[in-house]
Amino acid sequence: MLVWTEQFATGSALIDTQHRMLIDKINLLEKLLAEPAPSRAVCDELLSFLGSYVATHFKFEEGCMLKARCPAHDKNKQAHAAFLDLFAKFKVKYQAEGAKPELLRNLHAVAADWIKSHILAVDIQLKACAK
Ligand SMILES: [Fe+2]
Repeated sequence: MLVWTEQFATGSALIDTQHRMLIDKINLLEKLLAEPAPSRAVCDELLSFLGSYVATHFKFEEGCMLKARCPAHDKNKQAHAAFLDLFAKFKVKYQAEGAKPELLRNLHAVAADWIKSHILAVDIQLKACAK
């Protein structure tokens, strides 16, 4: 389970709230995976929410970095594009193969690892630039 701590703080309360929401949803996926037979409808809903929330959050965060002239802006944009690409590939597989536990476990592992290292390596650089 991921836990948001002060080390994830970006200097923007809104971005931090969005990160907390993303962490909650990734943790929810972990909880679903622990169930003996997670419902397809619940998985569909969670994944579609995660997909659209991530896209909205990335756009918002990139806008904040651009406005603050944060030197991490380009790196952030590239990392976001790479994650969206990965998520799109996952969605194709999910639609073709269904809610296979192995597929969902893999998404959870990748997403949990990615968000943690991305926030710590890139997003928190906003702190030095945000007023
Ligand atoms: Fe980011």
